[in-house]
Amino acid sequence: MLADILNSLKDIAAAPLARATTMPKEIYTNPLVLDHEISHIFSKDWVCVGRADTLPHIGDYMTVEIANQPLIVTRGKDNQLTAMSNICLHRGMVLVEGRGNAKKFTCPYHAWTYHPDGKLAAAAYMDKSECFDKAALRLPQAQCEVYLGWIYVNLDPDALPVKQCLSELTTLLEPYHMENYVSIFEEEHYWNTNWKCLTENFMEGYHLPVAHSGTVGSHFNLMDTEFDERGQFDHFTYQYFTKKDSAPVGTAHASNTTLTGKWRSTSIMPTVFPSHMYVLAPDHLWYLALLPDGTDHVRIKYGAAMAPEVLDASEDRDKLIADAKAFLDDVQEEDRTVVEGIFKGAKAPLTKAGPLSWLERENHEFTNYLARKLIPN
Ligand code: FES
Ligand SMILES: [Fe+2]
Repeated sequence: MLADILNSLKDIAAAPLARATTMPKEIYTNPLVLDHEISHIFSKDWVCVGRADTLPHIGDYMTVEIANQPLIVTRGKDNQLTAMSNICLHRGMVLVEGRGNAKKFTCPYHAWTYHPDGKLAAAAYMDKSECFDKAALRLPQAQCEVYLGWIYVNLDPDALPVKQCLSELTTLLEPYHMENYVSIFEEEHYWNTNWKCLTENFMEGYHLPVAHSGTVGSHFNLMDTEFDERGQFDHFTYQYFTKKDSAPVGTAHASNTTLTGKWRSTSIMPTVFPSHMYVLAPDHLWYLALLPDGTDHVRIKYGAAMAPEVLDASEDRDKLIADAKAFLDDVQEEDRTVVEGIFKGAKAPLTKAGPLSWLERENHEFTNYLARKLIPN
């Protein structure tokens, strides 16, 4: 069964864009596919877990679970972010939940206590245990890298650095100085859909004038969409578009001197495979970072940030932030309706693969990425 689904995926991926269709619907619903994604994608690729400025102080931490591995991402005494296992070295209890600031992590089961670098600090009543060597005990680490303000984590110790994976994209992004954007909110949402339905939704603008006619769609001309003509990249895809003059946001502030020409009103929409998508505008940024929870639920980190000069120039910063969030919340709700809708479609017996538009070129590239990952040569 899994082999049939993957063979079908491979055939669809091999088609040129003009003959490209949606993926086989079982890709979204079959638990064997999810197991395969966990071992070949989420255990191997860089996963974004949010913005670095949401952990500004030494001792700040957040927790996340990637490919069944609970992790703590924390800012150490050296001011660097690291990711380590959130599982106690004694009997395997999860150490901490949520986010906060901590000088030490103490297990809620028998109180083994760890330093922020993962080294064991204390464990009571272990003096008679000959197999206990306190100095040798440290929580295992995962790779953690900050790239233009994003925190990326990778469970594969042999994975190439994220900067290297995204090098062709970096040149385009650098003039925006997204690393200086200031987070205005970050939330977690939980939707009834397969994670790939949401990835695919974010990567195409085709639905904007329709599903978002009351929000982003009204300031967007589909024919302004541009793609990178260099072809497909292994680790990402993107499109970009230049905003109409009527758009209330999306233009560089007067004090921004790094963006020139059309780039002053151009937004770039990258998808970093497998599940990090964002809209980078000259004045703001909004993003989703996804993790599957079963085939039928997705955990979404949803947030936004603003260029510092925009916040500095605002006379009413709180209102600016509240208005931006209210607008994006409406967009998010519009997307929830459609991605939960298409997941229903993936489960329906009469559903067949549908043809893609040229505007869904990135969806076809995502199909190719999945085929590369899920079907090793
Ligand atoms: S499982 Fe953590 S102290 Fe026992
Ligand atoms: Fe959308």
